[in-house]
Amino acid sequence: MTSIIRHMKQIESRLILGDCTKELVTIKDNSVNLIFTSPPYADSRSQTYGGVSPDKYVEWFLPITKELLRVLKPDGTFVLNIKEKVVNGERHTYVIDLIQAMREQGWLWTEEFIWHKKNSYPGKWPNRFRDSWERLLQFNKTRKFNMYQEEVMVPMGEWANRRLKNLSETDKVRDPSRVGSGFGKKISNWIGREKAYPTNVLHMATETRNKSHSAVFPEDLPEWFIKLFTKQGDWVLDPFMGSGTTIRVAQNMKRNGIGIEILPEYFQLAQKDIMARANSQLKQPVLLEKKGKYETTKPKRRN
Ligand SMILES: C[S@@+](CC[C@H](N)C(=O)[O-])C[C@H]1O[C@@H](n2cnc3c(N)ncnc32)[C@H](O)[C@@H]1O
Repeated sequence: MTSIIRHMKQIESRLILGDCTKELVTIKDNSVNLIFTSPPYADSRSQTYGGVSPDKYVEWFLPITKELLRVLKPDGTFVLNIKEKVVNGERHTYVIDLIQAMREQGWLWTEEFIWHKKNSYPGKWPNRFRDSWERLLQFNKTRKFNMYQEEVMVPMGEWANRRLKNLSETDKVRDPSRVGSGFGKKISNWIGREKAYPTNVLHMATETRNKSHSAVFPEDLPEWFIKLFTKQGDWVLDPFMGSGTTIRVAQNMKRNGIGIEILPEYFQLAQKDIMARANSQLKQPVLLEKKGKYETTKPKRRN
């Protein structure tokens, strides 16, 4: 079943109840600007939401990434939130193996962001410390992808005041990178600026508000990537929608969304929430329940 919730100037949220291994075929080639998702964990025990054995993870995921490669626009981006588990006292290599397999499938592994969970509480394990970060792997189809860097700039803050007060001679000229990347830094360029570009480490608290789904990520996470990689009216896809965080944030940011969720209880949670927000944005949002693919229905005229 698919529901289409249409609101605000033709923006719509298309929610699909089903298995993304089957439902992704209903999405047109080269039609999505950003794919942002957190798939079910590799887990040898749990069947909570389709836990997949770590040894079978790559084999399970590759047909899905093949479809994602087809539906992503050439200048679009795929961001995958994932973290390897510890199995038999070692970090399993399924994430590293997946990156390699996706490169062979045609993806470019363009960047890796770290989500630092800044509110993790301490714990004690015999041979490691509290896991307090996750990967956000960025993949692209081409080297020329859309990126709106100014949208995620951060205040310069205290660092600038301290660092820019005492400039050395090196700070006034371009200091070439010591790793030979060909890039360099010229610290004096930042005098008088109020904002700087962020790093690839995102410090965000984990979500504690939504208790209805055990693996919800915070709204700040998709929001940051939606700002960075899309404009209003673009299309955002989450093939493992869960409680609908990505699609809800996309909706708030006036982006179209497509979310796929296999479990009816999570699908309904997402549908209820997104419909409620659409209601608050528009007096008469349109909910269309339909089985077929992409036919469009004109929203009803408001009186
Ligand atoms: C890690 S959770 C995603 C949570 C989501 N980011 C949120 O904020 O609520 C993964 C979700 O994928 C769903 N799922 C598992 N296998 C699926 C499949 N084959 N197709 C669609 N959804 C699936 C699970 O039911 C679960 O809700």
